[in-house]
Order: sequence, then C-alpha cells, then structure tokens
Amino acid sequence: MAALGEDLLGVVNRLQDLVFNTIGNDSLDLPQIVVVGSQSSGKSSVLENIVGRDFLPRGSGIVTRRPLILQLINVPSERDDKPGDDEIHVPHTPASVAGQEEWGEFNHIPGQRFYDFASVRREIENETTRIAGSNKGINRQPINLKIYSPHVLSLTLVDLPGLTKVPIGDQPTDIEKQTRNLISEYIAKPNSIILAVSPANVDIVNSEALKLARHVDPVGKRTIGVLTKIDLMDHGTNALDILSGRVYPLKLGFIGVVNRSQQDIQGNKPMSEALASEREFFRMHPAYRNIAPRCGTQFLAKTLNTTLMGHIREKLPDIKARLNTLMGQTQQELASYGTDSFTGKEHRGSLILSLMTRFATSFISSID
Ligand code: GDP
Ligand code: NA
Ligand code: MG
Repeated sequence: MAALGEDLLGVVNRLQDLVFNTIGNDSLDLPQIVVVGSQSSGKSSVLENIVGRDFLPRGSGIVTRRPLILQLINVPSERDDKPGDDEIHVPHTPASVAGQEEWGEFNHIPGQRFYDFASVRREIENETTRIAGSNKGINRQPINLKIYSPHVLSLTLVDLPGLTKVPIGDQPTDIEKQTRNLISEYIAKPNSIILAVSPANVDIVNSEALKLARHVDPVGKRTIGVLTKIDLMDHGTNALDILSGRVYPLKLGFIGVVNRSQQDIQGNKPMSEALASEREFFRMHPAYRNIAPRCGTQFLAKTLNTTLMGHIREKLPDIKARLNTLMGQTQQELASYGTDSFTGKEHRGSLILSLMTRFATSFISSID
C-alpha cells in the first residue's frame, strides 16, 4: 500500500511521530482528499489506485451510495524490531505486506478487524444496503472505515456518491440536488483537496465535477483535474488540449489516467498489472508519448505528494515555534530537578530534548 510514495510516507510519518511525541497532537492537520464526479466517472477506481489496494465496490451503475470516509492510519510494523532506527523501510511490493499487519475496521462494528480486503469490500456493500436500501437509493450517513497499516500515510480520503440527473429506483425526485448538497458540504472545507474526476469520453464543458469544484474553489488552487477513461475516447480524438491546460485552467493541472475496465475488474486483473498497462498505454500512444511522464496514476500520486508536502511546509514555521517554546520550558524544568535523582519525569524531559534535537538538525533541513 505504498502508492502515495515511499519518500513522503517516511518523511511525514516521522514528522507526525515527532510532533505527536512532543507537542502531543496532530499539528500537521493533513488535508483530506475528496473525490467528486458524476456517476460511473471512475471515482472509486481512482481512489483505489491512490491507496494501491483493491477494496472498494466498483462497477457500472450506482455503486457508491453513501459517503465513505476512509482514514488511513500508519502503525509501526511488528516486524520492525529496531525501534530506534530513523529510517522507515517500505517494501516495494504489496506481496511482502501480506499477513496480519494491515487491517480494516469499521465504526459500525467496533473492534472487529478485517484482514482480508475482499471482505472489507463486502462489508461496505452490506452496510450500504443496510442504510440506503437495495434499490439505488443514496444516503448521506457516512460509512467510516479505518485502515491500519505500516505502509500508509496517515491521511483521510473521501469517496462520494456520484451526481445523477435522472432519478432511478428508490431515488427521490430531487436526487440531483441532494447529491449536489452532499458533495458541496465535503469539498467546501478549505482543508480539502478536490480530485475532480471527469471521464474523457464526455465533453469536458459538461463536467459536473469541475462545475462543483469551481463553486467552492473559484481560482482552482486546491482542485486536481483527473481525466479518466482516456482509453475509451472516440478513435481519432485525444485529450491533449485538456491535459496541457489549454481548455480549463487549474493551478494543479489535469492528469489523465486509465483505470481498470469493467472487464478487467470481472477478470480480477491485479493492480500491478493494471498500472503496468496504463504506463504502456501512455508511452505507446502517438498523442501522449511526449507527455507520458506527466500522465497516469503514478504521476497523480506524485502530484498529491507534492501538494501534501506544500501543505506541510506551510505548517512548519508554526510547529518550529511551538517546539522552541516547549524546548525552553523543558530546559527550565530539567534545571529545576536535583542532579542525583533520576526520576521518570527527567527521563521524559531528556527524551523530548533528544527528539527535538533530532527534529531540528536532520528533519527540518531535509524538507525546508
Ligand atoms: P464511480 O461510480 O465514479 O465510483 O466509478 P467506478 O470507479 O465505480 O467505475 C465505473 C466503471 O467505469 C467501472 O466499470 C470501471 O471499471 C470503469 N472505469 C473507470 N475508469 C475507467 C477507465 O479509465 N477506463 C475504462 N476502460 N474503464 C474505466
Ligand atoms: Na459506479
Ligand atoms: Mg464509486
């Protein structure tokens, strides 16, 4: 589960640990990533690709019918028997991650650990039906899923029902308005990074995702345009104009991706294979060959990394200031202890000081 990038994972988790152990809260306050778009545009597929794991219900028709708030939580690896080691080693293949160190837990079933990601998907489906019924209805009550793993960045991702124009099944006549309001609520938060998903086989001027995003982020500074289904465009047409930013301006740009098709999903095409064929697609395509390094899921993950690092850089001065205050207080506290007593308090004080020294010398300079 390292699709978000090993470097970012190591750096941020180390920083998060240090801040947590000293300041005592999650001062990084990482943004949540919210995926929006119309029905079947490929939102759940994009989210899965970012996480690098198969666990979301996907398919043609309305599948995501309740918001899914997915909290990724980094936990130390049990195999990591060198607790003092600064380096976090992340395996490059999910195969080496198998076992008991990654699991999912739902808010609605406290304490039950799901080690098998296929059963995570089944539980999302069952829980969707339980609240939203079995006939296409949607419900605004979120499903909360936490994924614990040594191979994730502690981060929140939100998958939302897609926009539909025409009510079907149990959907109320104002389904479009209801969904629109629901989505707006999530993306209005200034701390949200909006992944605005538009399928490349539908005219971009009709993109509901972009319309919604523009409403809450008018200058496009926290919206990433994701163009899915590039492989399904009409023969002889391509998305070059959109991908190069000539059609619709977004500061963070547009990234084209090719997710697994419905057939790939039915045939259980592994994620690694899907990523490899996506790379091939862009590398071999006459229209995209030249911009291939700026296309695809890997580049999307990289862009998210850069965006998250930018966010952290903004937070650093504040964190540094608070650490300085804390360091001063700790030094005073240490000075007030007798020299011969070795109390637990003093231990804690020394620990904080040494952590902060490490933080100051190695960390801040490495990402400043
Ligand atoms: P959502 O409703 O927006 O969450 O969309 P899903 O991720 O569930 O995808 C809807 C359908 O479109 C599924 O059958 C996917 O396999 C298919 N799909 C999504 N992205 C792509 C893509 O880039 N290319 C192809 N060929 N199919 C895709
Ligand atoms: Na769908
Ligand atoms: Mg979906």
